[in-house]
Amino acid sequence: MSDHAIEALLLEGRRFEPPEAFRARAALRDPRIYEDAQRDPEGFWASIARELHWFRPWTKVLEWAPPYAKWFVDARTNIAYNALDRHLGTPRRNKAAIMWEGEPGDERVLTYADLHREVSKFANVLKGLGVRSGDRVAIYLPMIPELPIAMLACARIGAAHTVIFGGFSAEALRDRINDAQAKVLITADGGWRRGNVVPLKRNADEALEGTPSIQHVVVVRRIGEAAAIHIREGRDHWWHRLMADAALRCEAEPVDSEHLLYILYTSGTTGKPKGIVHTTGGYMAGTYATTKWIFDLREDDVYWCTADIGWVTGHSYIVYGPLLNGATAVMYEGTPDYPEKDRFWAIVEKYGVNVIYTAPTAIRTFMKWGPDHPRRHDLSSLRLLGTVGEPINPEAWVWYYRYIGGERCPVVDTWWQTETGMILISPLPGITTLKPGSATRALPGISAEIVNEQGRPVGPNEGGYLVLTRPWPAMLRGIYGDPERYQQQYWNRFPGMYFTGDGAKRDEDGYIWLLGRVDDVINVAGHRIGTYEVESALVDHPSVAEAAVIGVSHDIKGQAIAAFVTLKEGNAPGTEAVETLKQHVVKKIGALARPEQILFTGELPKTRSGKIMRRLLRDIAEGRIMGDTTTLADPNVVEALKNRYEEEVGS
Ligand code: PRX
Repeated sequence: MSDHAIEALLLEGRRFEPPEAFRARAALRDPRIYEDAQRDPEGFWASIARELHWFRPWTKVLEWAPPYAKWFVDARTNIAYNALDRHLGTPRRNKAAIMWEGEPGDERVLTYADLHREVSKFANVLKGLGVRSGDRVAIYLPMIPELPIAMLACARIGAAHTVIFGGFSAEALRDRINDAQAKVLITADGGWRRGNVVPLKRNADEALEGTPSIQHVVVVRRIGEAAAIHIREGRDHWWHRLMADAALRCEAEPVDSEHLLYILYTSGTTGKPKGIVHTTGGYMAGTYATTKWIFDLREDDVYWCTADIGWVTGHSYIVYGPLLNGATAVMYEGTPDYPEKDRFWAIVEKYGVNVIYTAPTAIRTFMKWGPDHPRRHDLSSLRLLGTVGEPINPEAWVWYYRYIGGERCPVVDTWWQTETGMILISPLPGITTLKPGSATRALPGISAEIVNEQGRPVGPNEGGYLVLTRPWPAMLRGIYGDPERYQQQYWNRFPGMYFTGDGAKRDEDGYIWLLGRVDDVINVAGHRIGTYEVESALVDHPSVAEAAVIGVSHDIKGQAIAAFVTLKEGNAPGTEAVETLKQHVVKKIGALARPEQILFTGELPKTRSGKIMRRLLRDIAEGRIMGDTTTLADPNVVEALKNRYEEEVGS
């Protein structure tokens, strides 16, 4: 893309100070907050936690027995109470909590009082189905209000939710339900996506053939007749029927601060996706505080996070963080290009969105579509822009700043993970001078470091591994049912430090620049996928002998999946085989894991001990000069593969 204005801005190496009008009214304006927090991190977190409601106060802010942390020890609270009931005695009672826009254009606004009523009723429904404190409830829903209602209803009675993104396949759903041993599944007859029906209930039926822990299924009617689903008597119940009979009142159960709030599955370097465990008190304080500081929400703001609630961004920054702050959040069911490529900007205009939070991959897509789509709409309500999920390239940052923010809105590039639960590295929009492409610095109370292989801090502008050197309130409390993997994955590499899996550097001003994953995790359009998962899906196909999967650079998605596949004797390579294998991965995992490229090869480059050399495959795919190949069992394999790759995919 050639945009001279953007190139000029970047060439200047321009820094962006908080605009005076923004700073004057910002929630945080005083940079001394960093030093205050540094001096007494526990006191700092305690003071923000005190803004919330605790049925019983804590005896100790933090108990740290590495790698296990307990925050707000012995306290009792309830996150749904804090997100809803706490606002009812205030003028927020009749304020919009969620403004929902369905894909076909249907709308629903729920005030805090409405949401409280729906959540209380559904909490009674869950109790009626036998759900008790500590039980797990699986949720496989489209982006409809019943999704946050179901999550908050679980939290209200002390049950844990595990939300499974609606784009996951039946098999992926089944694995997650089984790992969590969920008792109830909440799904819908379908969801809308680009005018088509996503067959959630049919996927669920397939999954439910192998999920013995599930006793009941609640089905939301989103589509109606057209979904043509089957209701199995005794097991399946319509949401609206159960709700029609549900009692209005259900007191929020005071739970221990460390009570299990939710499990969210994410990809790791090896094995099946891991269930990241989040508990109540620390997660609540962390998401509350970061939403307040980073999104700088004012009482009458309209805030829109465009993520799907199936990912952690939606958990923390559509549901919990905004509701804990008594904010008004927009929630949208569909995609940015349906019915037209200006849908996001039409929504911003329609609801008067003030703060928008989206992903670099979306911004790069908007760049490709060109500025005429946003130009058709009045975006003057916007005053703050956020991004998350992957490194943002400076061009995309400046495009966002210029064409969406009209050069008046700060951009907060927020770094965090499913495991961290809350944003940890981000500008504070009323304080921080911005550099396009940098997430700037760790938030007050957070200690991040960049270290070398030996765990020692690296110098300015030297690349290294991003680690966290002190516990933070919303940190994961483990991997569900697998303490060894928790220890090994995050804490063994650098003793006493949490290893993020990300590479980073710090510049001469101390600004942090994220450099992407350093492990076998690929970030495709902001979605995290393990190479191992895709390889397992490929070798699961009867025609495949061996597969190696890598991430390759992609203009829009940041990274895309490339697979090198060896077929078993008697199977022919070709476009048909490529299609079959792509489809197979979609069936095993979901469309988000579909490989962009599949290259067949007689052999994969291996070391003499038989390890596949992914580094070489990456070099081949990126068209780089090949590194040292002397450790290879058969160096000719690489040369042959390189030629094939260039022929088929282009270098
Ligand atoms: O590599 C980092 C990247 O996304 C990973 C976490 O993915 P997930 O758990 O799915 O959570 C995504 C949303 C919080 C990180 O290890 N990542 C996330 N935000 C950024 C980022 N990389 C660079 N800059 C960011 N702002």
